[in-house]
Amino acid sequence: MTEPVRVAVLISGRGSNMLALSEHKRRDPDRSYRIVLVASNVPDARGLVLAKRLGIKTWAKSHEGMKRAEFDALLDAVLHEHEVEIVVLAGYMRLLSPGFVDSWEGRILNIHPSLLPLHKGLDTHRRAILAGDEFAGCSVHIVTPDLDSGPVIAQAQVKILPRDDPESLAKRVLAEEHRLYPLALEEYCRAVREIEG
Ligand code: GRF
Repeated sequence: MTEPVRVAVLISGRGSNMLALSEHKRRDPDRSYRIVLVASNVPDARGLVLAKRLGIKTWAKSHEGMKRAEFDALLDAVLHEHEVEIVVLAGYMRLLSPGFVDSWEGRILNIHPSLLPLHKGLDTHRRAILAGDEFAGCSVHIVTPDLDSGPVIAQAQVKILPRDDPESLAKRVLAEEHRLYPLALEEYCRAVREIEG
């Protein structure tokens, strides 16, 4: 049997996507990935508490007072220490340095709460409503040095309803994120193992 791909999940906040990724794996242990580390640049991130409860190893350090490249070098060392193969961003609210992204080329995924290439950056739901879009949604993409611009590998649409405000829309999109991200990661990791032969 092939070994599951060793995944690190990077978070900065509540960690609901991290939880969904972990639950997917628990429902069927015969998955293509295994979360070996949850790391954060916010030591009191709620998601760290959830990860600990799930028995997943955690690492946290505040980036404050550190240069971006310096912090990322530290993170890189921790990832290598845990023999991480794929890095999954799940609400990681910090830009990664170009050097870090280059050295993990094709091995960092992110989930973004919009139908990319629409609405890169923050405040996506408000912008989708104001633009009069018929659909909002979420996208899983490979991370490249340009923000929210890497190749999209999976998307889910959510219809924008006439009475939606950013909060109500965000809630329905988040439910789709929790469904989409584990499936996309599962497929990506399967492909990683297949390419390795
Ligand atoms: C999600 O909406 C995700 O799309 C965005 O940040 C949010 C993280 O939420 N990148 P959570 O921490 O996974 O609950």
